[in-house]
Amino acid sequence: MANGDDRSQNGRQHKKARLSYGNPSNDHGNTFGHTNGREANHAGPSSAPLNPAAQAIQEQRKQLPIYLGADALIEEIKKNDVTVLLGETGSGKTTQVPQYLLESGLAGNRMIAVTQPRKVAATSLAQRVAAEQNGPLGKVVGYAVRFDEKSSPHTRIKYMTDGMIMRELMSDPSLSRYSVVIVDEAHERTLRTDLLIANLKKLQKERNGSSNAKGKGNSNNSKPLKIVIMSATLDAEKFSKFFDNAKILYVKGRQHPVKIFHSAEGQPDYVDSAMRTFFQIHTDQPPGDVLIFLPGQEDIESLEKSIDMFAKRLPQDSPEVLVCPMFAAQAPGKNAKVFLSPPPNTRKCILATNIAETSITIPGVKYVIDTGKCKEKQYLARMAGGFDTLLTRDITKSSAMQRAGRAGREGSGLCFRLYTEDAFNSMALSGEPEILRCSLTSSILQLRCLGQDLMELDLMDAPDTDTICSALKTLFIIGAFDKQSQLTPAGRHMASFPLEPQHACAIVASKEHGCSSEVIDVISVLSASSKLFLDVTEKRDAVSEARRKFRHPSGDHLTILNVVRAYQAIASSEKKKSRKDWCRKHFLNERTLIEAREIREQLRQTCTRVGVDYTTSCGENEGPVIACLGHGLVANSAFLQPDGSYKQTMGSSFVKIHPGSTLSDKKVPAIVYDELVYTNQIYARGVSSIPKSFFAKHHALSQRAA
Ligand code: CDP
Ligand code: MG
Repeated sequence: MANGDDRSQNGRQHKKARLSYGNPSNDHGNTFGHTNGREANHAGPSSAPLNPAAQAIQEQRKQLPIYLGADALIEEIKKNDVTVLLGETGSGKTTQVPQYLLESGLAGNRMIAVTQPRKVAATSLAQRVAAEQNGPLGKVVGYAVRFDEKSSPHTRIKYMTDGMIMRELMSDPSLSRYSVVIVDEAHERTLRTDLLIANLKKLQKERNGSSNAKGKGNSNNSKPLKIVIMSATLDAEKFSKFFDNAKILYVKGRQHPVKIFHSAEGQPDYVDSAMRTFFQIHTDQPPGDVLIFLPGQEDIESLEKSIDMFAKRLPQDSPEVLVCPMFAAQAPGKNAKVFLSPPPNTRKCILATNIAETSITIPGVKYVIDTGKCKEKQYLARMAGGFDTLLTRDITKSSAMQRAGRAGREGSGLCFRLYTEDAFNSMALSGEPEILRCSLTSSILQLRCLGQDLMELDLMDAPDTDTICSALKTLFIIGAFDKQSQLTPAGRHMASFPLEPQHACAIVASKEHGCSSEVIDVISVLSASSKLFLDVTEKRDAVSEARRKFRHPSGDHLTILNVVRAYQAIASSEKKKSRKDWCRKHFLNERTLIEAREIREQLRQTCTRVGVDYTTSCGENEGPVIACLGHGLVANSAFLQPDGSYKQTMGSSFVKIHPGSTLSDKKVPAIVYDELVYTNQIYARGVSSIPKSFFAKHHALSQRAA
């Protein structure tokens, strides 16, 4: 397969040219030895007899590389307040360490938190570990992610997002319910992980006594806290230094050799190249599943379609293909499918985002196809007054190596990189921490509620002053901070909502305007993990015709409200199937509507806590809804210019209305928008027209803030 052109095509049906690859290289540190060690004594939950399936799970646990070192590991964690644990992906860190600690009694009658940067990792890991503990999810093993929690008073191991545990600090500043906090995937350096690490350092000193940051806990204090930092890459020194030279432990992974092939030339159409490479593997290579890394959901869905289509045309005698997509916004049930063994004579093809890089290990993978791309939140500080946007970009060397490593977990494997060896060599070594490249509005507000100042916090990397200023300006303009940058009562209410402050502001403002019910309906849809309106490019006219009745002249927010109202009317009277049909007929994503319903429930609970009556409704007069949204989004506003573009009020850039907006072909004097996206120019998405009168009042504010 080194250079496929001279090989027979083995009856491959698609006509595209084969991709050619250079000679394999194996010099990127991807070959690792096996662990030698002694028998450890951690064979599973102590409860009653196990059925065969549960027994098999316990056997699997014993096969993991980390198992042999379990006793030594527990000893070290007992001895040290902070431990940094490094280990190859798949060695068993995330699933086993919390169970070892639980089984050794370290949890006491409190909990072990395991933090994850991604929601989908937290939920799927909790599910697996609950099965390993032979109990239902939500009992001993639970999870907590934004808008979703499964835990009980019996919960001892809680998988949670780094954002959720930061939120918990607001109600429990010393995290007194936890005896151990395991910060997993620390190498990803998400903004929230960084803030969590800074807070853990601080509160551990308080809980354990500042004199012995490295000692054995404090006998004067009955509630010491253990911190375990886990990382899949080799950058442990920095974490160790940050925690006063904490002990670093290594788990050797079970990594078999992986042969790496680079494409002979760059592959701009990486989705198509991935498809061709997949079928090359499928026709030429022995059994083994294929894992394809793609940047995001759209590419995954488009590749899924084309693989399914070509797979139908394979000769009768070729093995079947089972495509399993895996991305954050997918329904949890569907994500679970990737862990199941495929039926006989079937090759599984997993299409994943970088979630499968280190967070989640999928069994059975022998081949990896790496597009070399990922999507990353990027704060464009110098553009349009600074905004967060998701950009597709080249991965780092460290990611490329992790991706290749996924092919060698169960035996030797092959990795096909859809980029040249030169491209690999010129990749950055590792990524920049998120705190240096994303908006800080939400974090600054949250920290202020904890009585903390971001600029005074002991952080691993300090953020840029420009980014901080822009966040302070936004917080002032939405009324969360006063002129002295002090937290206002409204700001405290905003921080109670698990939302961006701009959206929380709209809900808080709705109290005065008597339209909380409507504002919550709109914000719930905006907070769902996937878009409500499906893009069906090839049927643009049909789509626009089907949705015409929802269109609201003021723009996207009230159009969403119309959809929610129509769906509610259908949902209360019709059967599940006709609801589905109704959504399909109108090109709407039903999953978004269902998720939004759950989010609405959560937001209503928060409303009750902060004294907003969520039942108040403005009925048919929707003016107040726009006023509330305008209030929250006032920093995201722009004026119409003679050439049809819009000039920002806060920044100095010109933006265009996104073609997918209901206002895309209209010209209104002023707009507010949910977000900016950057493709070849800056587009505003989620746009509503806003009366100039409203605007003038706020413009004065924005001038003062500037
Ligand atoms: O954290 P680390 O990468 O070291 O490994 P882990 O996530 O604890 O995974 C250990 C093993 O559990 C892997 O072999 C996974 O395939 C398996 N696992 C699974 O079968 N199903 C899950 N939902 C999660 C993990
Ligand atoms: Mg892990």
